[in-house]
Amino acid sequence: MTDTRTVLVTGPAKGIGRGIAERFLEAGYAAVLFDIDRDELLRVWGPSRTGGSVLPIAGDAAEEDDVRAAVSQAIERFGRLDALVNNAGIEIAGRVDQLTAAQWDRQIAVNLKSAFLFSRHVVPCMRGRGGAIVNISSVHAFYAYPGCAAYDASKAGMIGLTRAMALDHGPDGIRVNAVCPGYIRTPLLEQWLSTLPDRESALREVLKAHPLGRIGTPRDIAEAVFFLASDAASFISGTCLIVDGAMTAPGH
Ligand SMILES: NC(=O)c1ccc[n+]([C@@H]2O[C@H](COP(=O)([O-])OP(=O)(O)OC[C@H]3O[C@@H](n4cnc5c(N)ncnc54)[C@H](O)[C@@H]3O)[C@@H](O)[C@H]2O)c1
Repeated sequence: MTDTRTVLVTGPAKGIGRGIAERFLEAGYAAVLFDIDRDELLRVWGPSRTGGSVLPIAGDAAEEDDVRAAVSQAIERFGRLDALVNNAGIEIAGRVDQLTAAQWDRQIAVNLKSAFLFSRHVVPCMRGRGGAIVNISSVHAFYAYPGCAAYDASKAGMIGLTRAMALDHGPDGIRVNAVCPGYIRTPLLEQWLSTLPDRESALREVLKAHPLGRIGTPRDIAEAVFFLASDAASFISGTCLIVDGAMTAPGH
């Protein structure tokens, strides 16, 4: 077993997950990086860039066979997992009268079942030795936004899962917390903006909603995640940290 602490991050090929992976690597962790987008994963995290401390694995976080194989490859390579960051996510827009049952199932599978699956396979590796799990939820867990029914439900579910796991696995020395980002500049945000009739005025409205006067960056979220996974947070478990530039401070 390596002496180096090891993190497994889902969805690290882009956006917030990429920022999280960079933060852990800077701190000297080895990183197992699991993403469905094989090309982007290998472009960003292939051996030419990263060397021996990174293990990129392509797969679907909603498929248990892929998850099981990834966790066993991680243990085979590094012998330990100290932190798990359940970050992979998608947004399928629509009200309940617009979404199909298949869209609902995919939204919940990628955003929520994936966290269950990775936790299911990682908890036995952490039990006894201890570890930290950080789930990426959203301000959508607490506040509804128009036309986001399945996404909002998936992110609220992530909070329930976080609390349940913190309760059940505290005695195993495993801490479980959630980070709830507000608007963060990533490909996912760009994808949402591109669906709106007037992208520029929507962006102005979004900026106006942030008392800090800017949209967040992947690094803003990575710092919060790293803190929650670190020993500095050793008495923090079962909680949700909102990182949104005070956007939700007024109540929405
Ligand atoms: N960007 C925001 O404003 C924002 C706000 C709140 C919460 N979030 C949440 O943060 C997380 C990351 O979002 P982002 O903005 O970086 O998104 P992104 O689309 O920029 O990146 C998501 C990454 O997850 C990967 N992914 C998607 N489905 C996957 C699957 N089935 N299996 C494995 N990997 C998969 C993608 O390939 C991509 O690399 C998501 O859970 C999202 O809901 C984002």
